[in-house]
Amino acid sequence: MSEILLFDTINAQRAIRFLKSDPIPGDVLNQILSAALRAPSGGNSQPWAFVVVRSPETKQQLAVWYKEFWDNVYSKRADRRDSPVSRSAEHLVHHFAEAPVIVIPCIRGGKGSERDVMTTGASIYPAVQNLMLAAVGLGVGSVITTFLQNHEEKVKDLLGIPDNYQTACAVPLGYPSGVETFGGSKRRPLDEVVHWDCW
Ligand SMILES: Cc1cc2nc3c(=O)[nH]c(=O)nc-3n(C[C@H](O)[C@H](O)[C@H](O)COP(=O)(O)O)c2cc1C
Repeated sequence: MSEILLFDTINAQRAIRFLKSDPIPGDVLNQILSAALRAPSGGNSQPWAFVVVRSPETKQQLAVWYKEFWDNVYSKRADRRDSPVSRSAEHLVHHFAEAPVIVIPCIRGGKGSERDVMTTGASIYPAVQNLMLAAVGLGVGSVITTFLQNHEEKVKDLLGIPDNYQTACAVPLGYPSGVETFGGSKRRPLDEVVHWDCW
């Protein structure tokens, strides 16, 4: 891949929550998942697993729990403001099950293990980012979501995820419906967040 394509892809990556329900071909999914596996992990332990949910019934159950968190917690937050992000997130709440694929990245260990949360996360979130970048490269939209974390034990039961794994997030995948397009993410400027040599 040329440098230009790499940076085009990085700059295009953003949350896409308006997704078509059209299926994603198996070879495209395999490419996306294979990219996830190129990520670093502590000691190259590769402590990850990815549950790729396509079953309509399973997605429907996940969607119920996803919405429950929105209804009971997120929508009641005192600091919640109406914003494009909030409206987009609310759309996903009502259309979660329509995403053709929901990937649940999992990591071995974590809760109750000797590693702290940050160190544990450092061996799964690079893989999630690779997955989402690869998706952009293939024209597939995605968003990292954590609303299901509130129902983690139920999600694990439903998906048969072993006790010694925990879920890191849920990533709906689908072709953008056209309401949201790749690129144009708003970020704080470099000189506000980068400290050369010391803070
Ligand atoms: C840790 C984390 C948790 C997130 N949880 C959710 C979520 O539960 N639902 C959702 O719609 N978006 C979620 N997001 C997506 C963020 O809202 C999104 O990455 C952010 O607004 C930037 O979007 P942009 O790349 O389109 O600018 C989450 C992102 C991160 C990194």
